[in-house]
Amino acid sequence: MIEVKINSQEITYPINIESEAVADFRERILSYIGKKNYLVIISQKVEKIYGKIFGFDKSHKFILKDGEKEKNFKNYQKILERALEMKLKRSDVIIAIGGGVVGDLAGFAASTYMRGIDFIQVPTTLLACVDSSVGGKTAIDTSFGKNLVGTFYQPKAVLINPKILKTLDDRQFKTGLGEVVKYSFIEKSCLLEEEVNLTNFLSEKSKEILNRDEKTLAKLIEICIKLKKSVVEKDEKEAGLRRILNFGHTYGHAIEKITNYKKFTHGEAIVEGMKFAFNLALKKNLIDKSYKFLAEDVIKKYNFCKIPEYNMKKMSEIMKTDKKVQSDKIVFILPTDYSKVDAFEINSDELI
Ligand code: NAD
Ligand code: GLY
Repeated sequence: MIEVKINSQEITYPINIESEAVADFRERILSYIGKKNYLVIISQKVEKIYGKIFGFDKSHKFILKDGEKEKNFKNYQKILERALEMKLKRSDVIIAIGGGVVGDLAGFAASTYMRGIDFIQVPTTLLACVDSSVGGKTAIDTSFGKNLVGTFYQPKAVLINPKILKTLDDRQFKTGLGEVVKYSFIEKSCLLEEEVNLTNFLSEKSKEILNRDEKTLAKLIEICIKLKKSVVEKDEKEAGLRRILNFGHTYGHAIEKITNYKKFTHGEAIVEGMKFAFNLALKKNLIDKSYKFLAEDVIKKYNFCKIPEYNMKKMSEIMKTDKKVQSDKIVFILPTDYSKVDAFEINSDELI
């Protein structure tokens, strides 16, 4: 078993990566709970595929329909009411089984139920394994925008089984790979003491990764978690360094917004955002052509979908309304050297 410990300001929690039989996964989850009462928030699709094998009783389950639109106030309220009906105490547990949507929503509910109840994350998408289950961000979406209501709330444990990623559809697997590729371009800025050279790993192991070889995935997830750990332990509440995790996200979010979150997955949009950032960095002489070509080669290996160019005036208007924008200038995380990035403020006029 691989274990990575995350030291947050309040608690230290383990992230365990183990490819045991899926049928044993329930025991592993419950071993963290002991005799406590618990409510499992599980994604509908995951319930369909694994519900019987996991064998959680109906009385302990809240099945969440799939899709980003379910990460909303209504479901937040329903989860809290269900926990109240079950008479869950402050010492009991909420368990999230699913992708980032389930993890963010269940985590937000856990952080506010009786001012905070224990929370266990069981991420079942690649994106949730490498990103959303690490670092304690929880959120729901509002009609004003995504993730605008939320908390920083750390789970008690995160349990990962790479076997479960086998049933992800290709697009969902690739969306996680988008975030994985991101880590390779920010590796040195993550200030991890050991060198993991993710860019090499991604270049050498692309076949195994795309075939979802369990051992390779376990190693890949471990590397990404170590990189994210290194960032969030230094800057838990995103006062500075944590911003580098948004590499590719400024332009990527604008793509998601201009297409009404319907056309492209988050990871697909982020990959396009990274390509945009590499072009911008080259224009600003922050990097040379050879690094841009190397980065494009890594991206090509994973065959992400093509995204058209959108009107830059409209895109910059959208980027200006991002919740992270503090002035008229748009903050971009741009590459500055091999696997290094930094934050830059850019005028929308300059962009256009
Ligand atoms: P998702 O949660 O919508 O899951 C994608 C789809 O895959 C769903 O239909 C789900 O049911 C299905 N699925 C999940 N596991 C499966 C499996 N093992 N086999 C088959 N199907 C499976 O999407 P996501 O990409 O995991 O997460 C996106 C969300 O994460 C967004 O809401 C985003 O804002 C959030 N997020 C949060 C953080 C954070 O730090 N908290 C970071 C990044 C993203
Ligand atoms: N996904 C970005 C962060 O956790 O900060």
